[in-house]
Amino acid sequence: MSDKIKMTVENGIATISVNRPEALNALSKDLIDEMDAMLEQIKRDPSIRVLVFCSEKNFAAGADIKAMAVCDPEGARAFVFSDTYNKIEALGIPSVAVIEGYAFGGGLELALTCDLRIASRDATLGLTELNLGIIPGAGGTVRLPRLIGEAKAKEMIFMSRIVSGEEAERIGLVNVAVAPEELRAVATKWAEKLKTRSAVALRAAKESIENGIRDTDYVSAIDREAEIWSSLFSSYDQKEGMAAFIEKRKPKFENR
Ligand code: CAA
Repeated sequence: MSDKIKMTVENGIATISVNRPEALNALSKDLIDEMDAMLEQIKRDPSIRVLVFCSEKNFAAGADIKAMAVCDPEGARAFVFSDTYNKIEALGIPSVAVIEGYAFGGGLELALTCDLRIASRDATLGLTELNLGIIPGAGGTVRLPRLIGEAKAKEMIFMSRIVSGEEAERIGLVNVAVAPEELRAVATKWAEKLKTRSAVALRAAKESIENGIRDTDYVSAIDREAEIWSSLFSSYDQKEGMAAFIEKRKPKFENR
């Protein structure tokens, strides 16, 4: 393991941070491989309830251009981050990207794999790959239009348009943009809130939402929701959640 990326786990919240200030936290393939191992660890540890991506000063100024510059198509294919990024999206726990400074290219694509995004108002975000004569290659051309719509996504990608955190909130690219000094506190509040939810119900909500996005058949997506919904009635947390409502008290979920 290098000292360029680390994961801390505290009270059920895992935080992954990149530490390459000399390259504005640009992501090399080695870093992504280390991130992959961290995700495998998260998958094995049921005590981890929330994943946060949060790096000092800059979220990430993209994939490492200096390492990519010499690639031929085969080398570029081996450089692709998508397998690891897909794993983040497929996690059963919620993930939150906390964005300050630059979130460009593969950096913003990392944030796009997360369930929720919180940005500093003065952060700058963009899929700027066309400046380099390439296209986003870590899910950006697929995930961005789903999130902000085709027209806005084409505007950002075709013209390498950079948006501020504030504008990112307006176009739905991030959930919320906050004052820089509030960023960490808001992120902690959101992660703590997510931790209080039933992990079983959260996982089910995530599964049904993802299925609804992917399944082009509207009715079958709603049927799937009904299946997932009804399966929750065998969970302890459903019994506890409803009993707590009836008894006018706070639920004590056990995540089963
Ligand atoms: N890869 C490698 N090194 C990078 C980098 C990157 N993505 N971004 C910045 N750096 C390095 C710079 O080369 C520089 O290193 P040196 O001091 O050794 O020259 C250092 O970080 C500081 O950068 P700048 O001097 O450029 O800082 P700046 O404040 O003037 O500019 C910036 C900041 C606007 C973010 C500019 O660095 C920049 O445009 N970076 C590239 C952004 C980009 O195009 N990202 C997409 C990458 S491609 C990709 O991600 C592919 C994919 O889809 C997976």
